[in-house]
Amino acid sequence: MIRFLLDSHIHTVENTDPNTTVLNYLRTTLGKTGTKEGCASGDCGACTIVLAEVVASENNTLTYTTINSCLTLLPALDGKQLITVEDLKNGDQLHPVQQTMVDEHGSQCGFCTPGFIMSLFAHYKNTASNTPYNRHKTELALGGNLCRCTGYQPIFNAAQVLANTPSKHDQFTANSARFIADLLSIRPSEQHALSNGKQRAYSPTTIDQLCDLLHLYPEARLLAGGTDLSLEITQFHKSLDTIIYLGSVEALQHISIVDDTLVIGAAASLTQCAAALSQHLPDFAELLNRFASLQIRNQATLGGNIANASPIGDSPPALIAADAYLTLRSANKSRTIALEDYFTDYKVTELTVGEFIESIHIPPQPTHSIYKIYKVSKRLDDDISAVLGAFRITLDDDKKITECRLAYGGMAAIPKRAHHTETFLVGKPWDQTTLQTAKQELSKDFSPLSDFRASAEYRALIAKNLLEKYWIESTPSFKSSATRVTDLSFNQAYSLATDVGEPAHTAAAPTQGDI
Ligand SMILES: Cc1cc2nc3c(=O)[nH]c(=O)nc-3n(C[C@H](O)[C@H](O)[C@H](O)COP(=O)(O)OP(=O)(O)OC[C@H]3O[C@@H](n4cnc5c(N)ncnc54)[C@H](O)[C@@H]3O)c2cc1C
Ligand code: FES
Ligand code: FES
Repeated sequence: MIRFLLDSHIHTVENTDPNTTVLNYLRTTLGKTGTKEGCASGDCGACTIVLAEVVASENNTLTYTTINSCLTLLPALDGKQLITVEDLKNGDQLHPVQQTMVDEHGSQCGFCTPGFIMSLFAHYKNTASNTPYNRHKTELALGGNLCRCTGYQPIFNAAQVLANTPSKHDQFTANSARFIADLLSIRPSEQHALSNGKQRAYSPTTIDQLCDLLHLYPEARLLAGGTDLSLEITQFHKSLDTIIYLGSVEALQHISIVDDTLVIGAAASLTQCAAALSQHLPDFAELLNRFASLQIRNQATLGGNIANASPIGDSPPALIAADAYLTLRSANKSRTIALEDYFTDYKVTELTVGEFIESIHIPPQPTHSIYKIYKVSKRLDDDISAVLGAFRITLDDDKKITECRLAYGGMAAIPKRAHHTETFLVGKPWDQTTLQTAKQELSKDFSPLSDFRASAEYRALIAKNLLEKYWIESTPSFKSSATRVTDLSFNQAYSLATDVGEPAHTAAAPTQGDI
């Protein structure tokens, strides 16, 4: 059984298949068809809903987060307030967000509009009254919502008008004390399950319960944010018999600093991680702005990104370059492993049956080290990497390289360090001559594949030129006005590749395939 707040009432779900997405539950079971299905894969934002939660660390206040209901399975609603587009109207009165969208002609079709409204609503609730309009923050808030016709400018106009609203009082503020009391009363404190008799989802609340469940059901699938796992259900029409949901294990969301090392619980969302990383590893926090969309970052976890073991996942190379390591846990033991040793082959890892990732550890970076990450994707926002390079070199007083970690995604079957090139670099001065030879050495490290994201030739060329970009940015003559590759789209990166002296034919157009 799970419980959540809906329409101001505590709503109970039992005897239901836990493979059900929130989108299907809303539309099919409850007949609430305001929330739309566009892609069923997290790409379009038409299905955006808002979850409100009580944050104990902020004096029990409510936070509002957008998520994609097409990727969210029912267990994830437990203990939260579900807000859909139908809930925004107060009696006969449209919510200020809805009214402003009408006034600014921000709505043209019924498909994308409910999603845009929900993203604007969360942005409105999470921004204090009279906060000056910030185009960049608005783009981040709306980056996961696609309009296929013309509509962005009127929507941004609506966001601008809303930013200038003198008071953001609405029915959610007026009723917040009651909502908080209700949410505290349904906060999951005991292990529980949702089942239809055949499919079961367990929601443990402690790490010990999680260990016991995995020991009992070693074949169970762990569900964290579900942004990868749910695709097995929505895209490949699988039904998972035993699911263990990690979102109610508070200890797995804990983020702390222990002996200068940042320790991130595996089930902390990427949005939670970004706040901690902005202090500890700012380049990584900045990269997260280009990780999928806000809806996905609010759901997806760092542990899930690592466990998924995709060769084009963004966090593994970034964490490998930072010398991160993992704690793996099972009923019988706990062990640590360097992240670079965790991946053994395409989608194969060191994780054994009954084990899970408990936490990710990022040690302090060495003094005089320079750490940077570069992501290249076809689209700037909400797109997966074609290639990602994450680099850290440490220089001595004579500007010679004493230590070096060059990690790439999209260049091999696993996220991988360029060991040949690193060995060549250590002990050399970090100058133009060294760089040019290092670029050639990279071909000994990687033989990338072609797929629909990029051709092998493109990947090989970009890998070299990202290293050159890093060299430019890490040498004293670097001009701060230079465009960072983190901010480049696929085509801009292509131009950069050909600009820095490689023959144009080597940067071939991407071809079909699979990495
Ligand atoms: C539209 C879209 C855009 C995306 N864009 C990006 C992108 O830009 N960059 C990128 O890197 N990824 C991207 N992804 C992929 C995805 O969002 C990430 O891989 C995400 O971090 C997965 O985390 P999760 O919590 O959602 O994992 P889940 O889907 O819950 O789980 C993924 C896998 O990991 C396992 N697992 C989860 N937690 C643990 C744990 N603690 N221990 C052991 N196993 C565990 C699950 O059993 C499952 O097999 C995108 C996905 C979508 C749908
Ligand atoms: S339906 Fe497209 S993101 Fe959910
Ligand atoms: S207005 Fe809905 S897709 Fe453009």
